[in-house]
Amino acid sequence: MSEESINIGWRAPSNIALVKYWGKRDNQLPENGSLSITLEKSTTTTFLSFCKKGVENRDISLKYYFHNEQVLPFEKKTALLLNKLVSEMSFLSDYELIFHSENNFPHSTGIASSASSMGALALCLVSMEEIITKIKLSKDDFFRRASYIARLGSGSASRSVYGGLVSWGKSESILESSDQYATPFPLHEGSRLKTVMDIILIVSAQEKSVSSSRGHALMNVHPYREARKTQANNNLTEITQAIRNDDYQSIASIAENEALSLHALLMTSGSDGLLLKPNTLNIIEEIKRFRERSGLDLFFTIDAGPNVHLIYYLDQRDQVLEFVNQTLSQYCEEGKWIDDQIGNGPQLLTTPVTN
Ligand code: PMV
Repeated sequence: MSEESINIGWRAPSNIALVKYWGKRDNQLPENGSLSITLEKSTTTTFLSFCKKGVENRDISLKYYFHNEQVLPFEKKTALLLNKLVSEMSFLSDYELIFHSENNFPHSTGIASSASSMGALALCLVSMEEIITKIKLSKDDFFRRASYIARLGSGSASRSVYGGLVSWGKSESILESSDQYATPFPLHEGSRLKTVMDIILIVSAQEKSVSSSRGHALMNVHPYREARKTQANNNLTEITQAIRNDDYQSIASIAENEALSLHALLMTSGSDGLLLKPNTLNIIEEIKRFRERSGLDLFFTIDAGPNVHLIYYLDQRDQVLEFVNQTLSQYCEEGKWIDDQIGNGPQLLTTPVTN
């Protein structure tokens, strides 16, 4: 990079949805509202260096390094997003851009990283925009813009620019909700969800057989399409009510219904939509038995893959860790699981510096 290069760094977390976004229309707009928990430890860190191009050329020019290796598929995906953005961020074609990115969750754990990586990328781009345009946004406007940009890269990434609970998609039950960007979902003072924990049980670390973009596309022709929209919107209304009322049993049953519904839709979408493994079901059975026995408020959710998120509360940690070690870890690939929890959202890593 030349002398005038500027560096920006952001760390953004992954998130796990309790009400799932599944199906999209137009330019990455959701068919239904969703609500997620931002994680603390599963993050992507991205540094962006940029300097003025030496030559007159309006093409997007970028390099993308992941764990210090140039990765062409990531470069292609990023170029796709930047080309979408250039109509509103025209400065992007004036600079050479170099991204260096790292995930801190272990490789090959089957954890989708598009939410954290697109979140971190979007935050870097909005910081860059502030520097180039010399227009400093208010904190609210900054994160709203980052959420909007992240959404264009990956829908669930729109929720990764905030901490706590986050919703995305217009819903009458959530004030200021929007299809264009996500908004933080405030928890009241004594809400136990402020201490919510997530153990990610790695049933299989293999790449999933259906990409989420294909899964979303298949929803356009799915026979349950309309019913799914109604179900998701009802679940969102009910879970927001349950959260406000501290009704932890309802939160658990809605979240489990959402996870199983997502997989029911996947399984009936095409021939390769069966992503659950025998051990996914073994874990679900064990969780139900343990809940019955212990009376604890824990529950499961699952993303578009075979791994299970065991959601519980900090005050139950000792019993849950014992349960995971003694019972659940035997169903995990190489006994692997990730210990995570609700997080505070992204972090700016450097105040932009000129070299
Ligand atoms: O953000 P995408 O396009 O990868 O879609 C992800 C959708 C789910 O993870 C399955 C659900 C969600 O709301 O995060």
